[in-house]
Amino acid sequence: MQEAIILVGGKGTRLRPLTNHTPKPLLNVAGSSFIRHQIAKLMDAGVGHVVFATSYLATLFEDEFRDFSQDLDISYAVEDVPLGTGGAIRNAGRLLRGGPDDPVLILNGDILSGVDLRDLLAGHRERDAEVTLHLTRVADPRAFGLVPTDDHGRVLSFLEKPKTAEECVTDQINAGCYVFRRSVLDAIPGDREVSVEQETFPRLVARGGRVYGHTTADYWRDLGTPLAFVHGSADLITGLARSPLVGPPAEALIHPTAQVDPTARILGGSAIGAHAVVGPDVVVDRAIVGAHVTIGAGARIEESVVDHDSTIGARSVLREAVVGCHAEVGADNELPAQLRLACGIRIPAQGVRVSGTAVACPTVH
Ligand code: GTP
Repeated sequence: MQEAIILVGGKGTRLRPLTNHTPKPLLNVAGSSFIRHQIAKLMDAGVGHVVFATSYLATLFEDEFRDFSQDLDISYAVEDVPLGTGGAIRNAGRLLRGGPDDPVLILNGDILSGVDLRDLLAGHRERDAEVTLHLTRVADPRAFGLVPTDDHGRVLSFLEKPKTAEECVTDQINAGCYVFRRSVLDAIPGDREVSVEQETFPRLVARGGRVYGHTTADYWRDLGTPLAFVHGSADLITGLARSPLVGPPAEALIHPTAQVDPTARILGGSAIGAHAVVGPDVVVDRAIVGAHVTIGAGARIEESVVDHDSTIGARSVLREAVVGCHAEVGADNELPAQLRLACGIRIPAQGVRVSGTAVACPTVH
């Protein structure tokens, strides 16, 4: 039976406040929690047993899958203190059932990718590899550690983020999806924090281990930042990225219980959650509107996330903003890019603007 580990123990700090109460893999993306998209992809690839490597808000994963009735065994390897990516793999390895030579699929819990997992496994077997990494090519490699390979795909080294153009020796980066030979995984130290990228992989290459790259041009996005998160969700809805859980490509995904005024425009792969209420003349473009959110008339929500149970007042404008749950943004606000509003915060009408306001000053001078 094919087995897999999903790393889901990170705190997801770059997605706060969305991750204050919900681990990143349980956030809703294109109508389902992100981890459910990954589970569906793993099942399509023939995986029959998956181990969740959890730490942060670990019990919420068990809650999410308590009633999961599909043909998949799920185990939980909980870390009392986060062990880093390598330590987490080692710790989760205790619960695997296969033999020392069996291949184990390992996924980061925040990567949306079109890679064919059966191809990845087949390449691993053909090369008799100890570890095979999915590699993707990026336009600007300066923000990433680089993974050069030789003509046969064998990994030559793991390089830190390049600082100069000369250091950009390849555009291949680690795509956060691996196949490990079980015995290699079992050899990772289990008693301390270990980074697979900084320690495990470089050591394997240094000792001449059979570490291969599987480079593809498939869709790939790390959903770790707010903008990447909304874009990933929109890409699933518009069909740029694929998931077995998402229907045919569409302009928007509107929950059947949401009430959307006929004059509102929901565009660019936006998602509207359960029981949300969207008023007249609202524009929602490439954004995520959570469950029980209310959006007042004429508001504009672009490339933003509004978490559940929040209210956005009439004519307010949000661009690349993140609004935590149970927040209230009054009417006629204009939230600038990169703004993150804490859960439960209240912004009065006309409280925040980036342009001159045409409305009368509400203060008595
Ligand atoms: P940021 O805090 O925003 O960087 O996010 P993150 O905590 O998710 O870290 P990062 O994106 O680097 O993690 C990549 C993947 O590894 C994610 O799926 C994390 O859940 C997972 N991960 C990171 N650290 C740990 C850990 O110590 N234990 C476990 N089990 N998983 C981890």
